[in-house]
Amino acid sequence: MFNLQRLIRPNIQELIPYSSARDEFSGNAYIFLDANENAWGSPLDKSYNRYPDPLQHQLKARIAELKQVPPEHIFLGNGSDECIDLTFRAFCEPGQDEVIICPPTYGMYEVCARIQGAIIRKVPLLPDFALDLSGILEAITPHTKLIILCSPNNPTGNCFSREAIYTLLRRFEGIVAIDEAYIDFASQPGFLPELDQFPNLILWQTFSKAWGLAGLRVGMAFASPAIIQVLNKIKYPYNISQLTQDTLLQALARADQVQHWKEITIQQRTWLRQALQPLQIVEKIYPSEANFLLVKMKQARKIYEYLLQQGTVVRDRSQVILCEDSLRITIGRPEENKMLIAQLKAYEQQALGSQVSIHDPLKD
Ligand SMILES: Cc1ncc(COP(=O)(O)O)c(C=O)c1O
Repeated sequence: MFNLQRLIRPNIQELIPYSSARDEFSGNAYIFLDANENAWGSPLDKSYNRYPDPLQHQLKARIAELKQVPPEHIFLGNGSDECIDLTFRAFCEPGQDEVIICPPTYGMYEVCARIQGAIIRKVPLLPDFALDLSGILEAITPHTKLIILCSPNNPTGNCFSREAIYTLLRRFEGIVAIDEAYIDFASQPGFLPELDQFPNLILWQTFSKAWGLAGLRVGMAFASPAIIQVLNKIKYPYNISQLTQDTLLQALARADQVQHWKEITIQQRTWLRQALQPLQIVEKIYPSEANFLLVKMKQARKIYEYLLQQGTVVRDRSQVILCEDSLRITIGRPEENKMLIAQLKAYEQQALGSQVSIHDPLKD
């Protein structure tokens, strides 16, 4: 039986959270002498002299409409990185509690787990990048608090089997967190509609990818109201600035533009795949449900360095488990993607013309 209280660290259960001036007051007033703010104003033209709404009610109401999820199920963080970090801090007792992560995946899970002192059990993906479901089930111990999944996964680009995720949600009595940072680019729906069914589910999403707001730093966690309350309890009181709240509200009114970018990103993903395919340096382009392609190449590191010299930076993942010789390439604008292909062709010509064989005799 799922028992949230059993999962929350005892010191967090007992914690009396900081109560800010803006937490204690709600209603109408016109003289604010409660928060030691500057009464005159700010050098900026908006009223940034006031502390922002700690629980971002206006923003959450708008996000609730957009995502079709009641506001009590929503937490907002300084990027989804904050949502990830707080999840480890809420549930993992240092030196005692365990988390399961499935590499290759987003690096912050391991970093946050290490900062928190959680014990990490790694269950690598299978060679086709599917979840090793039986491996995960075997790795669960009485101390396992979290299973972290990323779907679509960074850097492999694939979504995990829905059935495998359902099995984990049903069989695991701890928390299953699914990072859906790239869900907007996927051909299948995410797990938001399943929130009501699974009290042990946390979803992380972000405004940094499809929404084009990586510089704003806003991420979302969706979960049961009880889990959201735990995250609210331990966050910094004013973790989303007034400037960010105002700007995000404006951005949320322009969802149509985001839809357009999603569509052209997906078109460009197909274009880039087709343009990469005939290159001799390309060994394999993995299927992608995200805004990047993972590409296995001959001489990946050399290609990475060559591209850098040309002013193009991609992500070298060749040292990452199961991603040997692979580069992760974000889908750019059409002219950027064309330039990348031209640079790769130039590299290929150069490699063909020189003594260096791009054919690895061991693999050919
Ligand atoms: C899977 C995944 N989750 C989370 C993040 C971080 O997102 P944010 O910018 O919201 O902190 C990234 C960033 O690359 C990511 O790839």
